[in-house]
Amino acid sequence: MSDLYRFGISIDAKLIERFDAAIGRKGYSNRSEAIRDLIRDVLVREEWGADEEIVGTVTIVYDHHVRDITSRLVEAQHTEPDLILSCMHVHLDHHNCLEVVAVRGRAKKVQGFADEIIGARGVKHGKLAATTTGRKLT
Ligand code: NI
Repeated sequence: MSDLYRFGISIDAKLIERFDAAIGRKGYSNRSEAIRDLIRDVLVREEWGADEEIVGTVTIVYDHHVRDITSRLVEAQHTEPDLILSCMHVHLDHHNCLEVVAVRGRAKKVQGFADEIIGARGVKHGKLAATTTGRKLT
């Protein structure tokens, strides 16, 4: 951290009690680190809102027996090769597969790709974990 800036805030006593309990459960050793993470989260959301270059992972679970699902997922990834950094496939059991796709690109493009594969028939559940390239965060 380059320059350290200190500030005080006024807050309802019950609210800060609950916040301290919540961050304690999450393993934060102090309030400052928890508040820094909240601030970073706001800034990452801004990067996404401004359609900046971002990174993330798309995690899906699907039944590979559903007709055409495997080829549709492969097709979607081959359509956007510049977007895909890496892909991990795990055969969970006889039916279910877990796929984690690491992506990098403009936020809207990444979101569009995530929507496409999460929305594919046969995908039981999917989530886009949106984060940042880290360049603008300290
Ligand atoms: Ni599989």
